Amino acid sequence: MIVVLNLDTDLIGRKVIFLREVDSTNEYAKSIAPHEDSGTVVVAERQHSGRGRRGRYWASPEGGLWVSVILKPEKHENLTLLVFAAALAVTDTLEEFGIKGRIKWPNDVLVNGRKICGILTEGRAGDYVVVGIGLNVNNEIPNGLSRVATSMSLLRGTEVSLFHVFRSLIRNLEGWYRAYVDGLYEKILKETRDRSAVLGREVRVVDDVEIVGRAIDIDAEGALIVQTHSGIKRVTHGDVSLRFV
Ligand code: ATP
Ligand code: BTN
Repeated sequence: MIVVLNLDTDLIGRKVIFLREVDSTNEYAKSIAPHEDSGTVVVAERQHSGRGRRGRYWASPEGGLWVSVILKPEKHENLTLLVFAAALAVTDTLEEFGIKGRIKWPNDVLVNGRKICGILTEGRAGDYVVVGIGLNVNNEIPNGLSRVATSMSLLRGTEVSLFHVFRSLIRNLEGWYRAYVDGLYEKILKETRDRSAVLGREVRVVDDVEIVGRAIDIDAEGALIVQTHSGIKRVTHGDVSLRFV
């Protein structure tokens, strides 16, 4: 079989590995990352053990976009901003398909309050970063998630070309990754704030302790600033859970 990919990118997607089925594209990407160049993309039709943060289950049936990008930035100093860069790429792609996505700090994209995309970034300090993106495109949403999740085809009322979504996402990722490596952090932060689903809203952040208050800003390091009754709290990315109240 001949596969011609016209991605028009210089870095991301120079090499694309297509898999019919895999446990998790992030696991696969991590296993090959030490020997791959920066920009290699792993994409699978299905994942049988797709994962979210803290090992949570990520439903990945056929029809969705399950993709992991291996990146080797020279500096690994602020991976939160890299997650934002990926979320911005996803919202740009949604926009191209007429869908307005909002970024739910720190790692999700929502449409009308429902999750359409999750991002899982993993890596080995100083070596590589794997940015895993799960985007619901034409895949079915499992029953248990139908109230909290949505997909591009549900929103558009028709199937969309998975390849066109993939190509758009790779192009947008390239643009935002360049902004990240060029140190255009203010640009990334400004757009993330502008497209935030969280700022100005009452939230409950569950970490070791629970913080309830109004999300008022995302600071220069990507931390969420929450105004509570007992003062201003700063929540760093870590493994926190955020809920709207
Ligand atoms: P939290 O803020 O608590 O971290 P989260 O929504 O970011 O919540 P994750 O920890 O990122 O949750 O874990 C992924 C969650 O996404 C799962 O718990 C599940 O509810 C949900 N989920 C699983 N598969 C899909 C999917 N294909 N589309 C949308 N949501 C999904
Ligand atoms: C989350 O919401 O917690 C993040 C979900 C990330 C899902 C993507 S799908 C491609 C890659 N492979 C995985 O196993 N997870 C990520």
